[in-house]
Amino acid sequence: MNFDAEITSVAFGGKGIARVAGKVWFVKGTVPGDVVRVRPLESKEHFGEGEVELFLTRSSLRSEKPPCPVFGQCGGCQWQDIPYETQLEWKKSFLADSLQRVGKIKVEELTIEASPHRWNYRSRVLVRVHVDSKGAVSMGYFKGETRELVAIKKCDLASPSLNTFLGFVAELKLPENRGESFRLEIQEIQTEAPQNLWVTVFPTKGKTQDLKALLERVKRHPQVSWVGSVFELEMALPQVFESDLGIDFVATPGQFQQINVPHNHNLRRHVLSYAQKQGWKRILDVFCGSGNLSLPLAKGSEYVAGVELNPKSIKNAKASAAMNELGNTHWVACDAVAHLNQLARQKKEAAGESSGSAGGVGPLDFDVILLDPPREGFFKGLSSLIALNPKAILYVSCDPVTLARDIGWLTKNGYRVEKIICLDFFPNTYHVESLAFLQRDISL
Ligand SMILES: C[S@@+](CC[C@H](N)C(=O)[O-])C[C@H]1O[C@@H](n2cnc3c(N)ncnc32)[C@H](O)[C@@H]1O
Repeated sequence: MNFDAEITSVAFGGKGIARVAGKVWFVKGTVPGDVVRVRPLESKEHFGEGEVELFLTRSSLRSEKPPCPVFGQCGGCQWQDIPYETQLEWKKSFLADSLQRVGKIKVEELTIEASPHRWNYRSRVLVRVHVDSKGAVSMGYFKGETRELVAIKKCDLASPSLNTFLGFVAELKLPENRGESFRLEIQEIQTEAPQNLWVTVFPTKGKTQDLKALLERVKRHPQVSWVGSVFELEMALPQVFESDLGIDFVATPGQFQQINVPHNHNLRRHVLSYAQKQGWKRILDVFCGSGNLSLPLAKGSEYVAGVELNPKSIKNAKASAAMNELGNTHWVACDAVAHLNQLARQKKEAAGESSGSAGGVGPLDFDVILLDPPREGFFKGLSSLIALNPKAILYVSCDPVTLARDIGWLTKNGYRVEKIICLDFFPNTYHVESLAFLQRDISL
């Protein structure tokens, strides 16, 4: 049965929290200070999920005018109407709460750094496109958790360059056809050249879709450097994707890249300056992607090793290392847990011998291990990680809950959290990136 409730706090995931009759309710689309009529969607013994039937009072925190006409419908951002300072406070509190509740730890130094840009910060977007049988295009995002397309012509989170291209797609007129739907991933590369976009088409019905007319039109667009379907990614040639810290980073379309470019530069600098200050020379980068964080560390290090599941990302890391003459790097395409298990086994076997190297899999001794896992974290790999006995662990995370779980475990197994810096990579949404600095506890 529907009920009225006041939202008193907000949870990671962006849902407002209300406490009613001893039960915690998570209500999507709400913020603290909203008073709403809740329609329950799911009810368990101690908590429930609900949606808003009616806003009775809107929170005074909703004090800003959202620039986007479809804010609240498209499901992309939750907080365009919330002052940026408040968003930052909430994100910091997500982490502090998770550390306390899940990790059972208190971290003295916990800070958050604002994104250099609140708007137009994304260098990659994924939009849905529908072309009707007459060739008219609708482009946008799916509404919330539905498959209902909310049409847009631009996105206030996307970079100006992406928006110019989105405007072109939204106005496209294609020949009559069977009616096609697909997703378009548009990635901006950091180059002075006008052709600064990679466009990948993900057909919803596999190879049977007729995308010829679309691909032809996109190929002729002056901003496009590469366009193809997801089945053609193999043919994309590596390109210098960006230059930073004296490194040219090589990439190809379709691999993971950080989307907030200036804040990614800040992340790299935090990692690099800390490593330099500590004098770390032997580095392992777990979930290394195409070497985003570890390539700058390779200059001035004894060696850098990187492990990553995606072989194409590893190919790009190798290409960047070659282009930048970083011969002290070792790259492995492998599941991270499997690789660390193998390193830990070999390190154990090598104990007693004067070996610091594991033949085919690269070095075994590391001053610091960098972790940057997907949302699920790295719990399964932690015991092998500590068997490698690094002096320090730098853990980059996009999920406060799994970060808290993992570093909570590490604090019970010989490491202490020195500080955590949250970096707001995703303004106007609930997402938050964090960088935790852990040192081996020499008091143990
Ligand atoms: C959050 S990204 C970080 C990448 C890189 N550190 C960066 O900053 O660009 C996580 C990476 O983990 C990789 N990955 C996902 N599952 C993996 C696994 N089981 N083992 C190794 N790498 C994995 C993904 O392909 C992705 O490149």
